[in-house]
Amino acid sequence: MNLLKKSKFVVLAGSLALALAGCSGNNSSSSSTPDNKSGDKEATKDNPVTLVYSRGKDVTQGTTKMVEAFEKSHPNIKIKFREMPSDTGQQHDAYVTAFNSKSSEIDVFDLDVVWPAEFAQADYLLPLDRYVQKDNVDLDAYNQGALAAGQYNGKQWTIPKFIDAGLLFYRKDLVKEDEVPKTWDDLIKLAKEKKGQGGTKFGYVFQAKQYEGLVCDAMEFVASYGGQFVNEKNEVVVNSPETIKGLKKLVEIAKSDFVPKNVTNFTEIESDQAFIEGQTAFLRNWPYEFASANDKSKSKIADKVGIAPLPAGDKGSAATLGGWQAGINKNTKHPKEAWEFLKYMAGAEGQKIDAVFGGHAPTILSLYDDKEVLKANPTFGDKGFQEGLNAAVPRPVAANYQEISQIIQIEVSKAISGSETVEEAVKNMETQMKAKIKA
Ligand code: GLC
Repeated sequence: MNLLKKSKFVVLAGSLALALAGCSGNNSSSSSTPDNKSGDKEATKDNPVTLVYSRGKDVTQGTTKMVEAFEKSHPNIKIKFREMPSDTGQQHDAYVTAFNSKSSEIDVFDLDVVWPAEFAQADYLLPLDRYVQKDNVDLDAYNQGALAAGQYNGKQWTIPKFIDAGLLFYRKDLVKEDEVPKTWDDLIKLAKEKKGQGGTKFGYVFQAKQYEGLVCDAMEFVASYGGQFVNEKNEVVVNSPETIKGLKKLVEIAKSDFVPKNVTNFTEIESDQAFIEGQTAFLRNWPYEFASANDKSKSKIADKVGIAPLPAGDKGSAATLGGWQAGINKNTKHPKEAWEFLKYMAGAEGQKIDAVFGGHAPTILSLYDDKEVLKANPTFGDKGFQEGLNAAVPRPVAANYQEISQIIQIEVSKAISGSETVEEAVKNMETQMKAKIKA
């Protein structure tokens, strides 16, 4: 407790476990569970099976190193990596297209934490329970909230690979530790001041493109002022003074002259690029940014990277809960091998490699005590950081989450562009979300 108080990572209370547990919906889903329908010959070293594994662009070395280690210890399985669009919404749509046509091309893939309920209901995923039982996988070793995000209709459809929560990154050579902004207004002041120093072009960079990342960033502003889009009971509560205040702060920052002029084209990829090229003093991104910005082979600011909680509004600092889960295409021709790969990737070994080389925050709790993980990511040892992950604010839980997200994306974008006021945007969100939200 003391540690938590002393830590700079003290954020709004919330419960990841509770909120995410809501992901386990109870709609019925038809799911046959082919155990091993490949009928393939046993994969051997001389006759290996090649699996296609897909995920979005990994700007760190995490995925490459993990795949290398897996192939080394599993000579009977080769992994062919397929890179998907980095915009998680486009990635989602690419999977929906592939899986709707029952394509077996992709065997194993990563799912954004907001997809498992929808994908399970759509019958895209191979349920993992039998495999988990057969191999005695210890599910208690996992963060239970993240694990629950992969459950639906009483089954485990995916296994969590890492947790994400929004963080503030800053240039230690430009910003002294006691200067690190505590509130959004401090950030505005500092970003103005630091822009131009040390060769920077911007004071602050964040994700303002009309896509899923904007929903995440917007939620952080809103929650830091005590607002919500949808509450824990799935009621639409977006039209509140707190939400309006949070969104006004977002709009103020997006329109300021210390962010890139084209910030409304920025996803995580452009944000990471600007930071590692030394163009900005402050950045909002997910934990992996630490590994990316310290990667000397590409970053101009290695060893100059500071991390802090996101600035606070009236209520406190808030981070959106993100993260990725690993799942198996229901139509894979190689379920047995796909499971071997998934088990490794989302297991302790795979997660450790991804934490050390990719800076991803593990979902296996014991890795927060692992010396190599902590050496690569000193922040992971901070109890406040861990509490921060657990307190991160989940996005609305719904099998039709994509529709809710679209509404938020469009209306927040309109408020940023000035084509409607923040008050109009929340009113429109309220009407549209009420029509769509399903309990
Ligand atoms: C990160 C998060 C994911 C989120 C996405 C938005 O990848 O882990 O949950 O949806 O960013 O861009």
